[in-house]
Amino acid sequence: MRHLLSIDDLDRAGVERICERARSFADIARRDIKKVPTLRGRTVVNLFYESSTRTSSSFELAAKRLSADLVSIKSAGSSVDKGESLQDTITTLSALGPDAIVIRSPFAGAAQLVTRWTDAAVVNAGDGKHEHPTQALLDVYTLLERIGPLDGKRIWIVGDVAHSRVARSCIRAFALMGADVTVAGPPTLIPRGIEGLGCRIRYTLEELAEADVVYALRMQHERMVDAFVPSLREYAINYQLNPRRLGARQLVMHPGPVNRGVEIAPETMDGPTSLITAQVASGLVVRMAILYEILAGGDVPRIAGSTPGSAEQLRPLPVGEPA
Ligand code: NCD
Repeated sequence: MRHLLSIDDLDRAGVERICERARSFADIARRDIKKVPTLRGRTVVNLFYESSTRTSSSFELAAKRLSADLVSIKSAGSSVDKGESLQDTITTLSALGPDAIVIRSPFAGAAQLVTRWTDAAVVNAGDGKHEHPTQALLDVYTLLERIGPLDGKRIWIVGDVAHSRVARSCIRAFALMGADVTVAGPPTLIPRGIEGLGCRIRYTLEELAEADVVYALRMQHERMVDAFVPSLREYAINYQLNPRRLGARQLVMHPGPVNRGVEIAPETMDGPTSLITAQVASGLVVRMAILYEILAGGDVPRIAGSTPGSAEQLRPLPVGEPA
């Protein structure tokens, strides 16, 4: 895999390989010294044109744990503020010779465009309403760790599907892993044709009891140009995930950030069936695995004198050894 732009860049074996690798990084994360020299000498640029807490911090930490050199750029405070175009920004950054560019943009297709203007491997960290493949991969990993293989598992994705790149990547990823995926929400927030990605559609939560996992989506106010629901209160009455609607064995997920009390009730969010914090923890090790897959796995040149995944590459850095 040269770039990760969409879940469609992966087959099931690829997803399993990334999750397996993430598991080995999770073992390393439990050691005292959490840093490995795997990507020493490689450079990663994180370029975020939209707000982010989880994705940007976990990509940063992932690169650092793998000993890559890292440059993090947010649109605020960079020349993007001064009106520099995406193409000029990528050309400029590419002159610094990065091996990977991780990009988040409000525009669907931005990550794909970036591949034309750089020799670096490109990772899509969210492009408008289009896709957010690394989120879906960390969600698959979180579920594999908790409930094992997803074959035949019923996963409901509830809420603002229309504006959600997370939904578009998760439907693809969960279906690829054999799950039976349903999207549910008000008709105004379920885009026409979404079933083509491999899911069923429901406009009410009447059959929610069948779900093994319920994945809540945030209302994406920043992408709404119209009023899509009469009010948030009415949305919550009909679609909020709360103890009244959910059984004791139904697992709950959310990509964050959460509008507490809108798409999910605080007691559900903080309750024992919530995987929300586990999802954040998975973000780090899965993004390490993705950087590994792109920069050290497969057919790209290997780090001199070592084999990807070898004990040598995964050994922790001795204290004092330069990273
Ligand atoms: C998601 C995003 O940015 O698409 N957040 C994230 O990456 N954890 C979901 C959202 O903003 O609602």
